[in-house]
Amino acid sequence: MRLERRLEAAMARVKVLPEDVAKRIAAGEVIERPASCVKELVENSLDAGATRVTVELSDGGTRLIRVVDDGCGMTRDDAVTSLLRHATSKISSVEDLDSIRTLGFRGEALPSIAAVSRFVLVTRPADELAGTRLTVEGGAPLVEEIGCPPGTSVLARDIFYSLPARRKFLRSATTEAGRISDIVTALALATPRVGFKLAHNGRTVIDCPPAACLEERVTCLFGREVADKLLPVEAEEDGIRVWGLVSRVDFTRATRSMQRVFVNGRPVQDRVVSHAVFSAYENRIPPRRHPVAAIFVELDPAAVDVNIHPCKMEIRFKDERAAHSAVRHAVLAALSTPEARPQVPGESLTAPAFEAPLIPHVGSFLADEQAPLTPPRPALARTSVLGQVDDTYIVARDAKGLIIVDQHALHERILFDEIKASAHAGKVEVQPLLIPAQLEVPAERIPLLTGALSELAVLGLEVEDFGGNSFIIRSVPACAGDVEPQALLNEILDRLEGAGAASAELPNLAAEGLACAAAVKAGQPLSFEEMDALLAGLTDELIASCPHGRPAVLRLSSDELARRFGRK
Ligand SMILES: Nc1ncnc2c1ncn2[C@@H]1O[C@H](COP(=O)(O)OP(=O)(O)OP(=O)(O)O)[C@@H](O)[C@H]1O
Ligand SMILES: [Mg+2]
Repeated sequence: MRLERRLEAAMARVKVLPEDVAKRIAAGEVIERPASCVKELVENSLDAGATRVTVELSDGGTRLIRVVDDGCGMTRDDAVTSLLRHATSKISSVEDLDSIRTLGFRGEALPSIAAVSRFVLVTRPADELAGTRLTVEGGAPLVEEIGCPPGTSVLARDIFYSLPARRKFLRSATTEAGRISDIVTALALATPRVGFKLAHNGRTVIDCPPAACLEERVTCLFGREVADKLLPVEAEEDGIRVWGLVSRVDFTRATRSMQRVFVNGRPVQDRVVSHAVFSAYENRIPPRRHPVAAIFVELDPAAVDVNIHPCKMEIRFKDERAAHSAVRHAVLAALSTPEARPQVPGESLTAPAFEAPLIPHVGSFLADEQAPLTPPRPALARTSVLGQVDDTYIVARDAKGLIIVDQHALHERILFDEIKASAHAGKVEVQPLLIPAQLEVPAERIPLLTGALSELAVLGLEVEDFGGNSFIIRSVPACAGDVEPQALLNEILDRLEGAGAASAELPNLAAEGLACAAAVKAGQPLSFEEMDALLAGLTDELIASCPHGRPAVLRLSSDELARRFGRK
């Protein structure tokens, strides 16, 4: 329904908004960076009823952005008018601001893009014989009649060429390309029926044919492994329909980057919906982990204000409480279905018949006397394990008193040092995979991953670009034990994402991700031998330091015990 309504609005004549309406449009910068330019152009294509949208970039969009669609196109007059400020076909009165069903409504995107780039727009409605080409390079548009396919193509070159100060502040091409695939991914999720292509420097990063439903689109964008771990959401409360996909509680990520919110089809950042999703998962997933989610909220356009942000990235629900409650209940309902039950690996028919030791790598690197990778650690003398609490903490005693260890935190710290030391010495123990693991990487992460390939290889993680979104993992570091290679790589990418690909922190972040993924988890029961093996790596230095504010080890010395019991 929405598409037809949009198309109707887009096909109306383009007119400059009366001043009273123009004054009501949220003011601010529309084109902040190449990604905002791509966002606006693709939104226009979607509003024009396109069934296929192609985006082409050079150098992160800083040199060239081209968006081509097969939508309704524009007549010569409309095309010329579309370059005027506040010229739009999508609204015409103040009242229309309360019933916006199109992505655009301000009539600001095209003039803003034309003002900051070398701009060429070519367009033709299907029922006209000739098309129109508009060229703008700092002055009045040059208007020409030309032959062209039906639809619209916009070329924006050298964005901010006339504003050198702005251009200087653009981040690296890789970062910009990442932002652009992020926004194209969001719009592709919002409109599964539309085919999307995104190419950067001649390389295809997104290629999704028109899909029948959201699941199909998610599979194309993120791969089957992700799609299989998602649960359908579908509920309605107080006239607010909430639908989409959310992850099972056993499938979480280290960042919120795979949570997408759409309100009436518009990708937005919204703290009300995000919080509602978070609250539904609270206490079901580990702290600092985030579910994967694509949540669509559909409600009366009059119940939501889309005109509050110059980039149309935020909205305001008129009744935030109702929106929160509808989303929370919808997600809770999805999480309470039988399919939502975490899948225990032991139940799977394909589980290996033998039980791999939980922390073989601790044992292996500590016990491997022939070829120690690092100087042996001065392990604490006579530490004896007393037991495990909550399947998470190891309680032990030594000559100085009582020690309580967070099993994951300690193991992670030990592995991190180990990984860094062996990478530094060029002596990483590599475990080639008999069957290389294939991984579909979301488009926005591809630049990140390709930029990190050599760094990952140093760590023993050999990843090969397989074209499109596919990557092949050929080997993993031996310390990763039997951790799923894809999970390993995802954990590393999560960390790199926060820092940007060019970061000098890359080797450390990659090692951290690897250590975290390979380390024994909280909540895993350990045998006494396994606990002994883990504590063998405990040193005074580890007890004393806690780099990220989160300790791995707590010590209650004999003195402290005596004081607490009033003996001193
Ligand atoms: N790809 C396209 N196909 C057909 N018509 C288009 C296309 N792009 C723009 N138009 C027409 O040009 C008008 C102006 O586009 P522009 O993006 O500047 O404004 P808008 O989409 O109306 O609002 P907003 O500034 O919020 O995006 C649109 O209203 C639409 O009628
Ligand atoms: Mg627009």
